[in-house]
Amino acid sequence: MRVVVLASGRGSNLEALIDAQRGGHLPIRIVGVLSDKHEARALELARSHDIAAIHLDPRQFPDRRGYDLALFARIADLHADLIVLAGFMRILDAEAFAPWLGRIINIHPSLLPRYPGLHTHRRALEAGDREHGASVHFVTAELDGGPVIAQTVIEIAEGDTEGSLASRLLAREHRLLVACVGLLAAGRLALRADTILLDGVALAAPLRLPD
Ligand code: GAR
Repeated sequence: MRVVVLASGRGSNLEALIDAQRGGHLPIRIVGVLSDKHEARALELARSHDIAAIHLDPRQFPDRRGYDLALFARIADLHADLIVLAGFMRILDAEAFAPWLGRIINIHPSLLPRYPGLHTHRRALEAGDREHGASVHFVTAELDGGPVIAQTVIEIAEGDTEGSLASRLLAREHRLLVACVGLLAAGRLALRADTILLDGVALAAPLRLPD
């Protein structure tokens, strides 16, 4: 499975995919990493692993749709089977990614549908939640919406801060993303309208991964 990763920053989720692939745990080939930020560590990581690293600068396009059409044209050039948004901090134009529905996933640091958008750890703390987590979902026109494939859940402990929560969750995010990409690479997941099929059977609720 040819995978393209979109990332705006640090790239630790990308790194988890690279490590799993290199370790023989994930039957994928990461054929490109695209970023809207030229300084993104994700691009450096890609270069250091001989993966095509492409910076596409939003300022060089008149509007979002123009940018997104160029972005998806570059992805099509790479003959991607799957697009993974791993910390890609832009809203995508629904028409531009429509051809990729069912082949584009996102990882988000909250238990969706709770806390789409930014500052998810802070919002979970402020709400007094006892649990927090991350979700991997198919991308649809709705921001951080779209059917959720799987979630990982952590407990919020007394004294947790935004930072402690973020770092504890990040390690779990990496395993969650690798597990979901593994299911997709094995051909076990499909999106039919708003329903996720796992081995041909509709998922009634998001999977809890890793077990
Ligand atoms: C991750 O925590 C990811 O869940 C989040 O950005 C971080 C990227 O970290 N994504 C979103 O907030 C998307 N709405 P990374 O660059 O180290 O993988």
